[in-house]
Amino acid sequence: MDMQPIPAREGNHNMKDYKEVYEQFQWDSVKSQFSWSETGKVNIAYEAIDRHADNPDKKDQTALIYSAPNREEKLTFEDLKFKSNQFANVLKKYNVNKGDRVFLFMHRSPEFYAAFLGILKTGAIAGPLFEAFMEQAVRDRLEDSEASMLVTTPELLDRVPVDELPNLKQIVIVGDVPENGDYIDYYKEMDQASKDFDIEWVDLEDGMLLHYTSGSTGKPKGVYHVHNAMLQHYQTGKWVLDLKEDDTYWCTADPGWVTGTSYGIFAPWLNGVTNVIRGGRFSPDDWYGTLDKYNVTVWYSAPTAFRKLVSAGEEVASKHDLSSLRHVLSVGEPLNPEVITWGTKALNLRIHDTWWMTETGGMMICNYPAMDIRPGSMGKPFPGTEAAIVDNDGNELPPNRMGNLALKKGWPSMMRAVWKNPGKYESYFLGDWYVSGDSAYMDEDGYFWFQGRLDDVINTSGERVGPFEVESKLIEHEAVAEAGVIGKPDPERGEIIKAFITLNDGYEESDELLEDIRQFVKKGLSAHAAPREIEIKDTIPKTRSGKIMRRLLKSWELGLPTGDTSTLEE
Ligand code: WTA
Repeated sequence: MDMQPIPAREGNHNMKDYKEVYEQFQWDSVKSQFSWSETGKVNIAYEAIDRHADNPDKKDQTALIYSAPNREEKLTFEDLKFKSNQFANVLKKYNVNKGDRVFLFMHRSPEFYAAFLGILKTGAIAGPLFEAFMEQAVRDRLEDSEASMLVTTPELLDRVPVDELPNLKQIVIVGDVPENGDYIDYYKEMDQASKDFDIEWVDLEDGMLLHYTSGSTGKPKGVYHVHNAMLQHYQTGKWVLDLKEDDTYWCTADPGWVTGTSYGIFAPWLNGVTNVIRGGRFSPDDWYGTLDKYNVTVWYSAPTAFRKLVSAGEEVASKHDLSSLRHVLSVGEPLNPEVITWGTKALNLRIHDTWWMTETGGMMICNYPAMDIRPGSMGKPFPGTEAAIVDNDGNELPPNRMGNLALKKGWPSMMRAVWKNPGKYESYFLGDWYVSGDSAYMDEDGYFWFQGRLDDVINTSGERVGPFEVESKLIEHEAVAEAGVIGKPDPERGEIIKAFITLNDGYEESDELLEDIRQFVKKGLSAHAAPREIEIKDTIPKTRSGKIMRRLLKSWELGLPTGDTSTLEE
């Protein structure tokens, strides 16, 4: 679908002219606004919360509106300062130190945000885990990070293989504490803890966050972020989210994924805005209701959610007053031009696509309020970052040539390491270029257009899934001999997970067996990683060195030419 550009709207935007800003911008100008630019010592939780709580004009502003089906709560910046201080004191009481990994495995709640910020205040590294993870997924992440403490709820505790995690010394329970075991009671400890805390001042390059994410090989990797990322969170919040102090902002992402931390925690609070956090499941009525009830002005969501709203129809939308909204953005998957068209009708607004990754820590290629949108394009590089399309040797390609989407390394929120895996970290770089794994091209006017993943990573409803993790789980099932997993294009979910398997002797294909295998992955990893389709084959194509040829599986599935199969095993 070819669509006309959608012109920028008139308005008092934080960034008036992209080109001019792009040419002049220096990160140092952001730094100099913060007091730590003098001392060099910083703490991102202080900058996000305490800086506002210590300002008499700001301290009583609502920082967090928590809204779930059976709970609603508002916390001011001062409330959040005190609660996170209390949690930091609890951590100190139990000997958590700078650099320790403290993981969180729970649903979104005020308790989660107090704990997350409290962890950062001690200088420890926070590791938020998506609440839908099952045992294997939880184990892999806690094992690799060697987390010494976990904050979780009684409901999720049986997915934590406590006895098999020697580094995990302490578990904080948010809720009814089980009697059989040595647990720390969140509410009891918080009640007793002081509201004053001496923040651990750290260096800009000290670690603050680990997000596990999938590649095409191996288990999920710990992407390591440092306090310096705050520069990018703050400035993209200003220029891309266009946040102003009286905004009410809602980011729909879970903090188990990077969007839910960079843009569900840091960007809004660094910019001092009221942040809506919605618990519970997606439903079109509740989502429109949330926009309406809290008069949300800036909304950051994902194509998969927008597509569901499109299919829910106009009638649901028309029941709600959405007139408070002034700015809408999207991330995670290609934003279909059809969805942009829906936005201009249903919301009377443009939807601004943004492109970035767990590894980039913050937005990299974006559509800005003051810029014309070309529907289907991810936009242009954020000021202070350089993007290009490069070939496999790292040479820049001219406009309209497809290649690797790459970024000149060194932006503030770039990952600083892959946890305990320096080889993997280095494999991302070609000379000075960080190579994203996405293919794209740039048009003559500098707009970037996403084309696809270059590796086998699957993007299902905006969630990144590594085929290896799913294959490994599949072959643990007693009936499965071999497995190859691919992403299959799907109009609503972007891609769905499709598994090809071979069966062990003595097993016959049946609907029950396939369902059992599906449930096995779902119970072991998580619902979003369970294959929606499973097909039984006589063999799984492999290279002579034993690597599964997922590309060939995909070509078969899509009825495409199979290309070079010279490395195929006999
Ligand atoms: C994909 C999420 C098309 C891409 C913040 C990237 C996108 C991966 C877009 C990162 C977009 C993200 N258009 N594709 N606007 N944004 N992606 O690490 O393939 O969960 O490499 O980070 O999502 O996913 P991740």
